[in-house]
Amino acid sequence: MAENLAAAGLASSVRPSVLATLEASLASGQCTTDPDALEAHAGDASSAVPVRPVAVVHARSVEDVQATLVWASEHGVPVTPRGTGTGKAGGCIPQAGGVVLSLAGMAGITSVQPEHGFAEVEPGVVTGPFRDTMEQDFGLFYPPDPNSLDRCTLGGNVATNAGGPVALKYGVTGRYVMGLTAVLANGTVIDTGRRQPKGVAGYDLRGLLVGSEGTLAVLVGLRLGLLPRPRAVISALMPFASLDAAARAVARSRQQGLLPRALELVDGVTLSRVRPHAAFPVDPSWGALLLAEFDGEPGTPERDLERFVDGLEGAGPDQVRIAADSAERTALWEMRRQMSKLVKIGTLGHISEDIAVPVGSIPTLVQRLQRVAEQHRLIVATYGHAGDGNLHVNILWEELTGAERAEDAAEAVMREALELGGTISGEHGIGLLKRRFLPLEQTSPVLSLQRALKSQWDPVGILNPGKIFA
Ligand code: LAC
Ligand code: ZN
Repeated sequence: MAENLAAAGLASSVRPSVLATLEASLASGQCTTDPDALEAHAGDASSAVPVRPVAVVHARSVEDVQATLVWASEHGVPVTPRGTGTGKAGGCIPQAGGVVLSLAGMAGITSVQPEHGFAEVEPGVVTGPFRDTMEQDFGLFYPPDPNSLDRCTLGGNVATNAGGPVALKYGVTGRYVMGLTAVLANGTVIDTGRRQPKGVAGYDLRGLLVGSEGTLAVLVGLRLGLLPRPRAVISALMPFASLDAAARAVARSRQQGLLPRALELVDGVTLSRVRPHAAFPVDPSWGALLLAEFDGEPGTPERDLERFVDGLEGAGPDQVRIAADSAERTALWEMRRQMSKLVKIGTLGHISEDIAVPVGSIPTLVQRLQRVAEQHRLIVATYGHAGDGNLHVNILWEELTGAERAEDAAEAVMREALELGGTISGEHGIGLLKRRFLPLEQTSPVLSLQRALKSQWDPVGILNPGKIFA
């Protein structure tokens, strides 16, 4: 990496006298080289190896971000923007050294404008509390619900175009990004986007920044669209005898003229691993589980659920258990949110994939995943947002020799998704972990166009170097 950096004119280490000039342009304590702070900003929530930065800058204002980027451009120092480090692809790991620019402290809700249907926020606002505030104080709904919503930031969600369970009905984060304020690598501040649902003037730079994983600019302000709150929601657990049967039910959901707000699939392997910690009794005979959620006006979710189950005819679930109240719903989702952690307990290592395929291909995909597990003699635990075709495939191993087979299995999983017309990443992003696989999905003209955009936006190459593109 060090040679690549030097070739690119970047410095992974920073001389103390050079760092002192950055410190001088910030308030005291905002730029730190404290070992604990470096350690705390070295990794994320993925299996990628943490790398300590040279320093951490805790931005408090747009000016702090500008000062850091101007300094970094001048000295050729890599800058890795970061929220709370809940990413799943190594995207905020300072692989190239240099400084981590933490936006977690820029966490204010700047304005809420219900009459226009948007809120303006700083990037460090945490997603779950923001959703709660919009709902409780304004009766409004901010749909995106990435699994880490109690910790992840809205800025990080935009940078990765994060998804979550209700993306099935409501779409991913990008759908709600009406406008962005961003600082370019040279310190210039730009505003891009709109203040109303429509706006087609010029290229959609807002759309380009969504999901750009900190490689094009640093997001300092987000204008997020809000919806009226659905008045009723129900959640139902539906066990199936086999994974195939549950997968077929998912595939059929699109033909019933119904759109659940979430339709999550949990396979038998995952169920057996979470059973000891489950918030509800998990019967060992269950081959798979669907967790469906419908929303709308009072009364309609129940009718939709009934139509959904009736439409499965002979191929329906063994039972339908509706969460009795909001406490039970919360417990269900709490357990669903713990799944990525619970599934790994007791294993020596893991690789987590987040492939997506056209939803009608879910039954074929789960069959092929089972074949990959057998061929590579590994445990494969699959769960996730099956209703929109997005599954988390967890490749687990319990002995030292498993790691190499797991690498092969992970590539096989991605190839299966691509063969079915899908993608290597439905919602976590490419970051570090998937960059060598991006050429499997995208042709070289498409990759070249993206590289050209990157060098136009970031000519010195300071912004999150080494991410997305190998
Ligand atoms: C989930 C995370 C891994 O859905 O995206 O559990
Ligand atoms: Zn997910």
